Amino acid sequence: MASGKIIIAIDGYSSTGKSTFAKLIAKGLGYIYADSGALYRAITYFAINNGFIDMDGKILKQSLKRILPKLLIEQKTNAKGETNTFLNRANIERQIRSQRVSDLVSYIAEVDFVRDYVDVILKGMGVQKGLVMDGRDIGTAVFPDAEVKIFMTASDEVRARRRWEELKAKGEAVSLSGVLENLKRRDKIDSTREKNPLCQAKDAIVLDNSDMTFQDEIDWLNEILTKRFGLFIES
Ligand code: DC
Repeated sequence: MASGKIIIAIDGYSSTGKSTFAKLIAKGLGYIYADSGALYRAITYFAINNGFIDMDGKILKQSLKRILPKLLIEQKTNAKGETNTFLNRANIERQIRSQRVSDLVSYIAEVDFVRDYVDVILKGMGVQKGLVMDGRDIGTAVFPDAEVKIFMTASDEVRARRRWEELKAKGEAVSLSGVLENLKRRDKIDSTREKNPLCQAKDAIVLDNSDMTFQDEIDWLNEILTKRFGLFIES
């Protein structure tokens, strides 16, 4: 650990609050935050807009494979500490959070060559360490040597309600039952795909935050970080 900095890998089911937690950790440690799911969402958004995927999740793989290396997908954090995703220099952060993208992203994330493409980008982000990344296979496949691995979970009801509130606040008219159905479907596809499925790394610590506040989560992690690495998340 030349720089004294570490990598914190956060995996878990959809809408367990991974990204909010990861952002708080990164801010408090002065680390970079990376949202791996946003890259799969950006590719899904591109595929929808260009007719490479239909509404049933059927993908024109050969065409997508040909065009993928030509895309420029970037993640940038602004002065306010907000991380935005850019596709060919256009900020698509809002668009990639839509229900339409959520409905189809797991089909895109199942495709081997898409995962290989995204993995190269993600691994590049970890070279300097000092990184908090959330996703589904970060502790198992992207950074199997990450110093800290967290596997997040929460009850289905709590997760669906959180996601529903989020979408409602953004003005998307979706039903709670529809959101729950989407979460369950995505978890199933994510956990059963062949390449790097969502699963708990052997050395990951489980965090069930069904009944926890963000501060509880930070306190929980601070105990571990202080003991093991002499690090403390300022909040
Ligand atoms: O975290 P999220 O909901 O934004 O992720 C969107 C989708 O991307 C999710 O359904 C699974 C997939 N994903 C993945 O397969 N591997 C990752 N490391 C991150 C996300």
